[in-house]
Amino acid sequence: MDALTCLKTRRSIRSFATTDIDAAIVTDILDCARLAPTAMNRQPWSFVVVRDAATRHRMVEIAGHAEFLRTAPVAIAVCLDEWDYWKEDGSAATMAMLLAAHAHCLGACWVSMEPHPYAPAVKTLLGVADTQHLLAVVALGYPVETPSPEKRPLADMVRYR
Ligand SMILES: Cc1cc2nc3c(=O)[nH]c(=O)nc-3n(C[C@H](O)[C@H](O)[C@H](O)COP(=O)(O)O)c2cc1C
Repeated sequence: MDALTCLKTRRSIRSFATTDIDAAIVTDILDCARLAPTAMNRQPWSFVVVRDAATRHRMVEIAGHAEFLRTAPVAIAVCLDEWDYWKEDGSAATMAMLLAAHAHCLGACWVSMEPHPYAPAVKTLLGVADTQHLLAVVALGYPVETPSPEKRPLADMVRYR
C-alpha cells in the first residue's frame, strides 16, 4: 500500500478476528513509532506490549470502556517521560503506529488514557513508572469490520489567503 492510500483509508477498528499477530509485525509497528517526529529529537517514549488476555480484560474493567481491548490480540501502551511536548510527541508516535498497523493490513484503535481518572490504575497494572505519562493504549488485530465514519469536507476547513 502506498503512503497516500494508507493515510486516506485508515479507520479506527474496534472488531477483531481471533487471529494472532506475528511478533515481527508488532516489532515493525513499534519501529515506526520509534521513528516518529519528536520536538528537539527528544524521543521521550517507551512502549508496553500487552498480549496477556487477563491484563487486557483488567484494562477494560478499570477504564470502563474500550471493550474491544478484550478481543484485540495485542495492545500497546504509549508511555512518555514528562516534558513540554510529551503529548505532541506521544500523539505523533501513536499516529505512526495506527498507520503502520494499517499498512500491515491490521486494524487499530487509539484508546485515550491521560487525563482520564482511570489512567493511574492502568499505569499501575502495566508497571508504568510514576515519572511517565500514559497517553494511550493502541488496540491491534486483524479487522472484521470496515467502518466509514462521516468525515467533514475539505472545503469546510480550509481557507486560502
Ligand atoms: C486523542 C484520541 C483519543 C481517542 N480515544 C478513543 C477511545 O478512547 N476509544 C475509542 O474507541 N476511540 C478513540 N479514538 C478514536 C476516534 O474515536 C476516531 O479516530 C474517530 O472517531 C474518527 O474515526 P477514524 O479514526 O476511523 O477516522 C481516539 C482518537 C484520538 C485521536
